[in-house]
Amino acid sequence: MTTLFYERALNDKDIGFIFETEFGDDMHDEEWTEHIALLVNFWDSVFLNEKAYNGDPFGPHFTIPNLKMEYFKPWVDLFTETAKELYEPDVAVLFKEKGESYAEEFIERLSQKMKNDTLTFL
Ligand code: HEM
Repeated sequence: MTTLFYERALNDKDIGFIFETEFGDDMHDEEWTEHIALLVNFWDSVFLNEKAYNGDPFGPHFTIPNLKMEYFKPWVDLFTETAKELYEPDVAVLFKEKGESYAEEFIERLSQKMKNDTLTFL
């Protein structure tokens, strides 16, 4: 699921360029392999209560150049579509719900951060 999702994300017309800038366009190289391994651990910790991921999923996004709030919708759509293709509907819906709730929290935190950044310039 994670590998297929990022393969599509990298080729997506709206959000692909962010991943390409960050990790390059070759999904078999080290940077991509590390990112996917990290994300597999992240999703294992979300769904299976595995402790392999203990990072901060939000913080690293705030320093990504050109990450805009409107990119979260295509992210969620792609994530949901991929889950629907791979899993039975009752499992796919869990991915959809988790993806959406994380995306909402990202948007919330990103807008909070933008507000704070604006205030420090006043
Ligand atoms: C527009 C949507 C998104 C884009 C373009 C994006 C892109 C990225 C990039 C470029 C990184 C690497 C950051 C770095 O190491 O400097 C990253 C890390 C990560 N992303 Fe996203 N992301 C998006 C949405 C999400 C969502 C919705 C989730 C969770 C459901 C998520 C989960 C993660 C996690 C867990 C990491 C690893 C953080 C760490 O270093 O521990 N991302 N993302």
